[in-house]
Amino acid sequence: MEMFTPFTLQTARLTLRFVEPGDAEALFRIMSVEATMRYFSSTPWQALSQAVDNIEQTLKGYRDRTALRLAMVPRDGEHAGEVIGTVTLYAFDLRNKRCEIGYILGQPHWGRRYTQEALRAVIDYAFETLQLRRLEADIHPDNIASERLLQSLHFQREGHLRQRWYVGDEVSDSIIYGLLRQDWQAAIHPAQ
Ligand SMILES: CC(C)(COP(=O)(O)OP(=O)(O)OC[C@H]1O[C@@H](n2cnc3c(N)ncnc32)[C@H](O)[C@@H]1OP(=O)(O)O)[C@@H](O)C(=O)NCCC(=O)NCCS
Repeated sequence: MEMFTPFTLQTARLTLRFVEPGDAEALFRIMSVEATMRYFSSTPWQALSQAVDNIEQTLKGYRDRTALRLAMVPRDGEHAGEVIGTVTLYAFDLRNKRCEIGYILGQPHWGRRYTQEALRAVIDYAFETLQLRRLEADIHPDNIASERLLQSLHFQREGHLRQRWYVGDEVSDSIIYGLLRQDWQAAIHPAQ
């Protein structure tokens, strides 16, 4: 299958672009913060080499088309040009036209609807360009910010899977959210 070749998506405040090797320090700044990694199965990064390895995986994902990760970069203001977070489409099942979606935003930028804005563009891309039918998100039951974010984008809560992950040393359940293309289209183009 063909690799993902670089493109950008534009939103009101952000450029979404492919991750590059030069992003290691920016990703390290985001992923080394305890509060940001609280609900992830990996612990906060401690060395820049983890960012370098992670970017290698990201580039491999573009090459073998297993994951499409886009960096969130503000176009204007104090943080113009900086990578402040990422959104990723992964676990593609093309026969069944679905994949999972994940996201992370640096703590200084929380609460400003940056992720909501980025996800709107990535969801459009998934449904219109990739022609998927369904997106899934797997979140920690206590991750209220992530749950509210998904609800604000019309995802529906579909399930509760028990003891699915280790988050640090703690066994954790997952809440599964799903979004169908038909629901997204109905929400963004409501019948008059
Ligand atoms: C989850 C996360 C991505 C949210 O990003 P964000 O850009 O701050 O979220 P937004 O500002 O776009 O908010 C989107 C919606 O969620 C709500 N929301 C966001 N954070 C919230 C919080 N802490 N408590 C309650 N609601 C919250 C917003 O009010 C908004 O809803 P509204 O438009 O109906 O008011 C961010 O907090 C983060 O990266 N956290 C750490 C990593 C993580 O947990 N990633 C997800 C793993 S599944």
